[in-house]
Amino acid sequence: MLHTENLTKHFGETTAVEGLNLDVAPGEIYGLVGPDGAGKTTTIRLLVGALHPDGGTIRVAGYEVPRRAEKAREHLGYLPQRFSLYEELTVLENLRFFAEVRGLSAAEWLPRSMEILEFVGLARFSARRAGQLSGGMKQKLGLAAALVHKPRLLLLDEPTTGVDPVTRQDFWQLIIRLVSEEGVAVLVSTPYMDEAARCNRLGFLREGRLLVEGTPTALRRQLEGRILELRGENLRALRSLAEADPLVEHAHLVGDRIHLRVREGGGSAPKAAAQLQKRLAARGGAVTSLLPVAPTLEDVFISLSSE
Ligand SMILES: Nc1ncnc2c1ncn2[C@@H]1O[C@H](COP(=O)(O)OP(=O)(O)O)[C@@H](O)[C@H]1O
Ligand SMILES: [Mg+2]
Repeated sequence: MLHTENLTKHFGETTAVEGLNLDVAPGEIYGLVGPDGAGKTTTIRLLVGALHPDGGTIRVAGYEVPRRAEKAREHLGYLPQRFSLYEELTVLENLRFFAEVRGLSAAEWLPRSMEILEFVGLARFSARRAGQLSGGMKQKLGLAAALVHKPRLLLLDEPTTGVDPVTRQDFWQLIIRLVSEEGVAVLVSTPYMDEAARCNRLGFLREGRLLVEGTPTALRRQLEGRILELRGENLRALRSLAEADPLVEHAHLVGDRIHLRVREGGGSAPKAAAQLQKRLAARGGAVTSLLPVAPTLEDVFISLSSE
C-alpha cells in the first residue's frame, strides 16, 4: 500500500530524511519511532504530497507521489501532528466539511459521517461545538475526518501525544479494529513505547535515517542478555557508581529501578550481574538486588539513540 525508495529531503543544511526505504502492507501497523527532529513528520508530509522530495520515489496505493498525488490522496487518510478543526462548527459540521473536501456527495456525506462518528464514539456529541471538545475527543474527530472517505492507507503523526491514557487506549482499539476488520494499512509515528509495542513492525529513525527495522520482539532480542535491573537505595548515587564501571555501557532510571546495559562481550548476564553487584557494594553502593531482565523497547531505543 505504501512503498518508498531512497526518499530524501533536505531543508538547507539540515538533512531531514535520507535514503529512506519503507514498505507498509494492507492490514499492517507500521510504527515510526525516533527522537524529536528525527524526520518523522517530514516523512509523513512527503508521503501525502505536502512536501516535494529532493530524491527518491514514493508510491501510495500504486500511485506515484507527488506526480499523481491527487489520485493517491483518494486512498489515503492523514491525521497531522497539529490537526486543526473549526472550533465554531459542530462535530457533524466539521465532518461534513472534510467529507465535501473529499468529494462525497450530498447523499453520501451524512450516512457516512454518522457511521464514522459511531465508530469513533462521538455520535452522542455530533451537535457539540468542536471548540468545546476535550483533547482526546478532538483527536477522535481528527481520526473521523481522516477516515471519512474510507482510505486504504492511514497516516497518523503522533496521534495521541498529550492525550490521557484512557483515551489513548480507546484510540488504539479503533486503529486495531480498522486494521483487522478492514485491512487498512497504518503508518503511525509515536513517542510512546507502549504504543510502539502494538505495531506489527517498527522503524527507528534518527537524523533522517532508518537505523533498524523489525518486529518489536526482534528488536528486543538484539539486547537479549545485556540488560540488568538494579534496585537499591539512593538511586542517583547508584547510577553514577554503575556508570563508572567498565562493564556498564549505559544506565537509566525506570521508575524506582535502574536498567543497566552491559557492554558487548561482557560475559553472560548472570555472571556480569554477580561481578557488578560485588564491585558496587565494595564502593559503598546500597544494592538491594541486581538481576538480568528481558530488554524492553525503551532499552532498545535508548541504546539506538546513543550509539
Ligand atoms: N519546514 C522546515 N524548514 C526547515 N527545517 C525543517 C522544516 N521541517 C522540519 N525541519 C527540520 O527537519 C528535521 C526533521 O524534523 P521533523 O520531521 O519535524 O522531525 P520529527 O517529526 O521526527 O520530530 C528537524 O531538524 C527540523 O528542524
Ligand atoms: Mg513530528
